[in-house]
Amino acid sequence: MKQIRIFDYLEQYQALESDLHAAMRRALESGRIILGPELESFEQEFGAFLTGEPTAGATPVHCVGVANGTDAISVILRALGVGHGDEVVTVSNTAVPTVSAIRETGAIPVFCDVDARTCLMDLDRVAECLSERTKAVIPVHLFGNVVDVPRLRSIIGGRDIPIIEDCAQCHGASLNGTMAGTMGTAAAFSFYPTKNLGAYGDGGMCVTSDPQLAAVIRSVRMYGFDGLYYAEREGVNSRLDEIQAAILRVKLPHLHNHVENRRRIAAIYDALLPAAAKPIAPSAGANHAYHLYVVRVENRDDVRTGLADKGVGTGVHYPYPIHLMRGYDFLGYKPGDLPVTERLAGEILSLPIYPELPPADAERVCVALREVIGE
Ligand SMILES: Cc1ncc(COP(=O)(O)O)c(C=O)c1O
Repeated sequence: MKQIRIFDYLEQYQALESDLHAAMRRALESGRIILGPELESFEQEFGAFLTGEPTAGATPVHCVGVANGTDAISVILRALGVGHGDEVVTVSNTAVPTVSAIRETGAIPVFCDVDARTCLMDLDRVAECLSERTKAVIPVHLFGNVVDVPRLRSIIGGRDIPIIEDCAQCHGASLNGTMAGTMGTAAAFSFYPTKNLGAYGDGGMCVTSDPQLAAVIRSVRMYGFDGLYYAEREGVNSRLDEIQAAILRVKLPHLHNHVENRRRIAAIYDALLPAAAKPIAPSAGANHAYHLYVVRVENRDDVRTGLADKGVGTGVHYPYPIHLMRGYDFLGYKPGDLPVTERLAGEILSLPIYPELPPADAERVCVALREVIGE
């Protein structure tokens, strides 16, 4: 029986193999392995991907490559002066790194419950999470779906609280024609290999349209240096290396097509899923990037096992709400505090999706799901 995997990078690697090898060779032979021309070019090219070419009239963004997506969040927080004892509002149904990045600065995560239809931060509940100590809000564009950042901004109102978009899962997504990652004060991307734009190792990017904030981010990623060997502020070591930047430069021109392929697979699922598997809805105005295709099902773990028996790999993103994890006991949350998040954790199931997944395999997933659910 042919196995259908939830994610597979090998076919894409084979399709781009000669370009990738040439790019890696170019980086290796350049004599610059850290903070060289590949990263400089990739930062510009990624900015152009987000806002269009400079001539298109969009506000340009500044991009600063860092070692991974977790660092992208924490470096931005540090650059904004967020630190010990400050509060940062985010969600509990996210990847743990959203929260580890907040803790890395000494700040305290405050969790907002999510909307059951979209799985995203429930904007009707944000106001009750804000306090005098709130120093940032991090909406997570989970699964490739998009939080309505302009609406979030209006809810925050006149207070000067930065919004940092967690874009680890949403490369290529947009809201009413505006790219995710260009709506907030700053945005953090991950290039972890499974992401819509994935390196062959770790990588991340900080994005902002504020040139002064970009300059501070650039300094924080390199020990707080402004010039050489002089720390103007406290910083860290977090740089996207030349080899990963060269790899990402090969893949970036294909990102649009890759996301379109994801959307085509999502459309097959939308059309053929059994009624008992309810897809998570794109938020209003969102052009979803389908990093993950997630449904809600009853008896999720049994369904998962049934699918595995039929050769279909699945995932759960994420099975444990962070506010109830032992590592975060000290935050003082208890079961029932975030009822929607807690309910979703037991029902969500991620189906196979990646740009090269054959449409026939997505159809087979739907057949298998029907058989397992008994519809
Ligand atoms: C929502 C979210 N935020 C942050 C991260 C952190 O990215 P990285 O793994 O590159 O540190 C990830 C990826 O794992 C993620 O999915």
